[in-house]
Amino acid sequence: MRNFKYYNPTKIVFGEETISRLDSLVPRDARVLILYGGNSAEKTGTLDEVRSALVNRTIQEFGGIEANPTYETLMKAVELIRNSEVNFLLAVGGGSVIDGTKFVAAAVNFAGEPWRILEEGGSLVQSALPFGTVLTLPATGSEMNSSSVITNKAKQAKRDFMSPFVFPQFSIMDPTKTYTLPLRQVANGVADAFTHVMEQYLTYPANGMVQDRFAEGLLQILIEIGPQAMNTSDNYEIRSNLMWVATLALNGLIGAGVPQDWSTHYIGHELTALYGIDHARTLAILLPATLKICRESKRVKLLQYGERVWGITSGDEEQRIDQAIAYTRSFFEDLGIQTHLSDYNLGVDDIDRVVKQLEAHGLTQLGENRDITLDISRQILQASL
Ligand code: NZQ
Ligand code: ZN
Repeated sequence: MRNFKYYNPTKIVFGEETISRLDSLVPRDARVLILYGGNSAEKTGTLDEVRSALVNRTIQEFGGIEANPTYETLMKAVELIRNSEVNFLLAVGGGSVIDGTKFVAAAVNFAGEPWRILEEGGSLVQSALPFGTVLTLPATGSEMNSSSVITNKAKQAKRDFMSPFVFPQFSIMDPTKTYTLPLRQVANGVADAFTHVMEQYLTYPANGMVQDRFAEGLLQILIEIGPQAMNTSDNYEIRSNLMWVATLALNGLIGAGVPQDWSTHYIGHELTALYGIDHARTLAILLPATLKICRESKRVKLLQYGERVWGITSGDEEQRIDQAIAYTRSFFEDLGIQTHLSDYNLGVDDIDRVVKQLEAHGLTQLGENRDITLDISRQILQASL
């Protein structure tokens, strides 16, 4: 196992009817800006619950943060805060609203052009406004990590940053708030969480026994409850497990001390930035192809994954690896997520565009071995057609 530091200060308040706990979680004298997305939080009543819980605080609101939150929209929130007395942020929504809030928190006191935070991957961030979250969509793990992914519309770029200053102080996770999710978002959440585990697990052996068994357990839970979550919208046991598994998939625990890949995510971000394909769908397109193209460097872990996660024990090594990849693809397809670029009307010509963007963003050495060059990325995209 590699040396590591593990730090996660986010307090989780989990369970039904926990939104009222905001009253004790948000400092008494806070002047709060509530940030949210389109109209789901208003329509479902979640915003009203939040307002009631904070009735004794000064609150302002900023709505309209889109899926794949944009720099352009978020800078309006930054301006609003700079011209007000706001000193605490509260994100109410899914990964997009939480990521957007992290960026706003870091940008408000940033000296210089805040897009540089994304260009430099967060190392420039010296402070951030404190914030909490009320999670409404299990998927990204953003409620308990220090990452944020922001889209710059003008630059057609989707970039991420990490900073210890943007861990949420707390996250309220009420599984009943997921009952209103459209099936497409439920499927996306399952596929995103599944791929987060794979990015940290399916690399090469590093003798991380705890990390491996935890990762395999999380994958098996997603395989078990993903389809169930699609079939029932209001089953508390299923939704509570879905919510917690998605958090643990990307709160740093299973990735500590082991190699990590993330090439599927980086190539996927370019697909979202150029073509607007949902984040999770880009992963479902690219992950099976990545496993196929990188099968030699990932051979040992592919066999371990096939056996421990999918119970594949018969056949020679090549057959077992083929089957593990095929099961992965079917898992996504069974959630109703199509897994080929052609399903999204993209073809050979689009591959050039994506590779050019990877190059422009300096993403020329991806993967756990830093050996996914532009040429290998091209092969992955070709294998995704
Ligand atoms: O905008 P509203 O009207 O609120 O609707 C949202 C949105 O359209 C809707 N929704 C959310 N909760 C709902 C609901 N609808 C009904 N009932 C509810 N309870 O769902 C739609 C999608 O929301 P979004 O927040 O965009 O989804 P998700 O949580 O999947 O977040 C995706 C974003 O997170 C980034 C992605 O790149 C993408 O930008 N990621 C962030 C990561 C991180 N911070 O660690 C890691 C991930 O790999 C990912 O990259
Ligand atoms: Zn993701």
